[in-house]
Amino acid sequence: MNEIALTVHQTARPHGFPTADHFAFVESTPPTPAPGSALVKNLYWSVDPYHREMMDDVPGGFALHAPLEGRAVGQVVASRTPRLAEGAIVLHRHGWRTHAVITPEETRHLPRFDGVPLSNHLSVLGGTGLTAYVGLTRIARLQEGEDLFVSAAAGGVGTATGRFARLLGAGRLVGSAGSAAKTEHLVREVGYDAAFDYHDGSAADLLRKAAPDGVDVFVDNVGGEQLAAAVGALREFGRIVRIGTISQYNTPDALPPRFDYADIVEKSLRMEGFLVSNHHHVQEELYEFAVPHLQSGRLTPDETLLDGFEHIVDAFLGMLHGENTGKIIVRDHGEAGA
Ligand SMILES: NC(=O)c1ccc[n+]([C@@H]2O[C@H](COP(=O)([O-])OP(=O)(O)OC[C@H]3O[C@@H](n4cnc5c(N)ncnc54)[C@H](OP(=O)(O)O)[C@@H]3O)[C@@H](O)[C@H]2O)c1
Repeated sequence: MNEIALTVHQTARPHGFPTADHFAFVESTPPTPAPGSALVKNLYWSVDPYHREMMDDVPGGFALHAPLEGRAVGQVVASRTPRLAEGAIVLHRHGWRTHAVITPEETRHLPRFDGVPLSNHLSVLGGTGLTAYVGLTRIARLQEGEDLFVSAAAGGVGTATGRFARLLGAGRLVGSAGSAAKTEHLVREVGYDAAFDYHDGSAADLLRKAAPDGVDVFVDNVGGEQLAAAVGALREFGRIVRIGTISQYNTPDALPPRFDYADIVEKSLRMEGFLVSNHHHVQEELYEFAVPHLQSGRLTPDETLLDGFEHIVDAFLGMLHGENTGKIIVRDHGEAGA
């Protein structure tokens, strides 16, 4: 077999925004599976904001000059275990490489749903959708008619949150994003009632204008100034769902947000963070909720697809700079016309 395998390594630690110089593509022959494992050819890759956190010298972070971890969907092409049949489509965490050797224990067989493309397993049906679903149903415990504010609303988690909230009977939906094109997409396509570009002024002023009567729930993907603004805008018994802090990942020297701590008491607010990795047991419920809506067309996944593994670093860097709308996914050239 003359096939070449490509693997991305991190080669240096960034301070601030990473660049392509912090990565290298390493060529090899495709690996050979040992007994009990299988060789997978990856078809779709997820690049995620948490990868930026792992680029730092932190416990559990990426090792330099070694393969990186990341979610990928692939097809088993050679197997030395009866538990991974050749041809099976699987989800695993050996991403950032074209070929991966996997074991059954670290792999999930993906169910195939009629009319649902494979990429959706990395967007609305994957960790991104699960994060949005858990945030709304388990952390916010959203009630029908409640009003929401969502930051980074045009990203993967943000669009899934908006679309799921609409299907769950939310009231007014307000989102923030980084460009006029994105705010327009939120209102025209995703189902938000109002959206603002957070570059256009102080977050408190922009939020006050978009949600003059306040909100019941804030789904926070960003932190910083928008978190402080939301504390002010929340009504009594409001909830802050802390999902991520992307405003700080590339600005390690930024000051933490300042807000009125008394608001937390006087309005009986609850702020709760979570990691989706502690909620895998909700996956089947997400399928039951989302798949019929996908099949009926009531739920449209928002995805930015980049074709070609050679663009995986560009996809990651572009996502950090806000170039994606919806979940950013890298697709193998062979899948592009499939
Ligand atoms: N808790 C969990 O288990 C969990 C799971 C998944 C994701 N997350 C977190 O959820 C958040 C969203 O993740 P995602 O995968 O859906 O990524 P995403 O929103 O699709 O992509 C990141 C987006 O963040 C925005 N952004 C970048 N810098 C920003 C800044 N300084 N201020 C405001 N927005 C900024 C950009 O959009 P704009 O153009 O709008 O700036 C960019 O498109 C991240 O914080 C991530 O770490 C947490």
